[in-house]
Amino acid sequence: MDTLRLGVNIDHVATIRNARGGHHPEPVRAAKLAALAGADGITAHLREDRRHISDHDIKRLAQEINLPLNLEMAATDEMLEIALRHIPHAACIVPERREELTTEGGLDVVGGHNHLKFFVEELKKRSIRVSLFIDPDPDQVGAAHALGAPVVELHTGAYADAMGEAKDFELERLKAAASQGHGLGLEIHAGHGLTYDNVVDVAAIPEVVELNIGHFLVGEAIFCGFETSIKRMRVLMNEGRARVSGEKTA
Ligand code: PXP
Repeated sequence: MDTLRLGVNIDHVATIRNARGGHHPEPVRAAKLAALAGADGITAHLREDRRHISDHDIKRLAQEINLPLNLEMAATDEMLEIALRHIPHAACIVPERREELTTEGGLDVVGGHNHLKFFVEELKKRSIRVSLFIDPDPDQVGAAHALGAPVVELHTGAYADAMGEAKDFELERLKAAASQGHGLGLEIHAGHGLTYDNVVDVAAIPEVVELNIGHFLVGEAIFCGFETSIKRMRVLMNEGRARVSGEKTA
């Protein structure tokens, strides 16, 4: 079966910790548990306002976990300096607006080409695998490729929020973007808003090799535990991926 990696995003473990300003629950402990549950990587977003993950969390994650660390970061000098200090396995460049509740849309790679190119090149020079978080839009995929980024992460938020026919439409956009990007030689990831209910169709997109999932896994952990929520997500991802092998042999 084609591999589909699961990156577990632990930002919201830090959200709960920060609600009381103490040390519990610790994101590093969650990352270690995620590793035991079969995660392939740990993803953490160091936001400009430090609303969840802190600088100290990034330092500890870089030093203490045995899984590849994917640092989500805005394209700012401050974040670049932090990335170059810790050299995570990967960096995913995301747009960031202070007032947003979460990352609301993809990067505008088309409009921000010159600005982003510098960050992509600096990260690549240090062998950090760079991905650009983009909407599943043909122009954005083309621009990401033109910029020299090796990976794109397709924003699944619009698909996750849509209902009925709009959901089918959004899924088709994801499939088309994945196919276009793969054709250009990009590695394709996807994430945002994925849950037990919507992950299977995304996992069934053959070009997608990594999903990054956080909020739902941490929320579900309240009811069944973090290990169980991750393992259940993995089962559903495998279910989607099995469709890919089925299609190939059909
Ligand atoms: N991928 C990226 C680039 C993100 O910014 C986020 C949210 O931080 C995720 C994946 C995970 O999204 P969610 O927490 O909704 O699963």
